[in-house]
Amino acid sequence: LANSTSYIIHPQVVLVGPDGVGKTSLMTLFERGDSPSQTHTSQKSHSVELNASTDSSSKYSYKNHEDTTGTHTKFLLIDTPGHGKLRNVAMERLNRCERLKAIVFMVDAAALGEPESLAPTASYLYDILLFLQKRVSDKSNNNKKNNTPVPVLIAANKVDLFTALPSTLVKTNLEAELSRIRSSRSKGLLDSGVGIDDVGSEEQDAWLGEYGSEKFSFKQMQEFEIDVDVLPGNVTGDGPGAEKWWWWIAQRI
Ligand code: GTP
Ligand code: MG
Repeated sequence: LANSTSYIIHPQVVLVGPDGVGKTSLMTLFERGDSPSQTHTSQKSHSVELNASTDSSSKYSYKNHEDTTGTHTKFLLIDTPGHGKLRNVAMERLNRCERLKAIVFMVDAAALGEPESLAPTASYLYDILLFLQKRVSDKSNNNKKNNTPVPVLIAANKVDLFTALPSTLVKTNLEAELSRIRSSRSKGLLDSGVGIDDVGSEEQDAWLGEYGSEKFSFKQMQEFEIDVDVLPGNVTGDGPGAEKWWWWIAQRI
């Protein structure tokens, strides 16, 4: 079966998250070394080829374009549109990945203190985590590659702004909101008139994390071998920058 013309699919990392959080800005920063002065709301998915390393002298930096020390792995970073009306575009792109290695879910840490931002952000995150959980737990899925657990980085962006929540609060606020969404969605399921015998399995499949638990925590995703990390950063302005995110990705491709 040695087919020299068969093409190689590079490891894929997908950037998701609500609109305006800074996904396209981050992708441009990684690609060009500086952030764009202006961005537009994305309407399509867009990918760039990048190189990351875990053994070169510049391994912690995305500014490694000229680095010839160590080994570099080529990967595809895929930016998706965040607008609620284009959610299907992002989910479809995610579904189409053949070598999905990691998901970066970006949030606006400066806006997340507001309910108007927290609720839709958590709702989108819920869908992403449930998508990953189902991918792992689906027993009928014999396709090995689709069963590989995919880690999630919650990139808490815009910490250069004074309203930004510290990452510990980003984490606990999201966990609390995900708990709330989970109980309201499971109630909807019970109310939807599903036969009483079916309730158990139906509900269990749509339940995120540890079944029957009162509060959701990201730790519960480990039951499905899905690691969730929260790391603060910023693309523009003064702050810790984006290198921690880069290093997180470099270790997972
Ligand atoms: P959609 O394409 O609509 O999903 O949005 P997006 O997530 O791609 O956001 P985009 O990169 O277009 O950035 C939206 C706005 O946030 C732009 O004005 C950016 O300059 C700004 N922005 C991005 N990162 C940061 C940051 O770290 N700090 C601050 N203060 N602003 C940022
Ligand atoms: Mg964008």
